[in-house]
Amino acid sequence: MNILYILLFNKKIYKMKMNSNIRIIISGIFAVILSSLSLSGQVNELKKSDMEKINTKEFPALPYAYDALEPYIDARTMEIHYDRHHRAYFNNFVNAIKGTELENTPIEQIFAEVSKASDAVRNNGGGFYNHVIFWNNLAKNGSKPSAELSAAIDKTFGSFEKFREIFSNAAKTRFGSGWAWLYLTPGKELAVGSTPNQDNPLMDVSPVKGTPLLTIDVWEHAYYLKYQNKRPDYVEAFWNVINWDTVNERYSEAMK
Ligand SMILES: [Fe+2]
Repeated sequence: MNILYILLFNKKIYKMKMNSNIRIIISGIFAVILSSLSLSGQVNELKKSDMEKINTKEFPALPYAYDALEPYIDARTMEIHYDRHHRAYFNNFVNAIKGTELENTPIEQIFAEVSKASDAVRNNGGGFYNHVIFWNNLAKNGSKPSAELSAAIDKTFGSFEKFREIFSNAAKTRFGSGWAWLYLTPGKELAVGSTPNQDNPLMDVSPVKGTPLLTIDVWEHAYYLKYQNKRPDYVEAFWNVINWDTVNERYSEAMK
């Protein structure tokens, strides 16, 4: 398209009465401007695609062994949770978007207008995406919040302990099934909230909106085998297996 513009513009220049050297200079300048516009378009596209880290084309591997989070999250729960629940959400999501215009739409974009999509897309797309975030923000690696994230937590909640209390409370009090989140609001402020079912803060239907940073799954399938009805015990155990390295990365990426 840009080459067409250059050719058309050059044709106009050559019809004008002017010194041939000036003609060459003007068309050269025009070509450089168009090239740089084209390049900047490509850079924007690259940046946009870089942000789309969730691949909807294949079911992602669990980033650790089933027993990696023992004794806080047991291997049997991890196996069933990942290989049955998460896989089912992925398969159902793929089937729900198959042959539709959503098939090649980035999942974040689907969520931004999920109110227009079917319940199957909303529930299974959320179920697929939320678990990817959840697996990646779990590890037993002894990591800690970065200096930047710690400062933001202190500024927003007063202290890490207060943040932990607020987040845990959101997880413990979410009625029925759902998720608790630490997320970054569109105004780049930290916030804690929870969503029902498989909704998440990227969805236009969600009461809490922003970029997910840290999440905990409080569906019973996430803890019932080990903790039965004691969700608060599971929520407390969760603090031993947070992969702060990935939370820190998500925070610094979201702050850009
Ligand atoms: Fe789950």
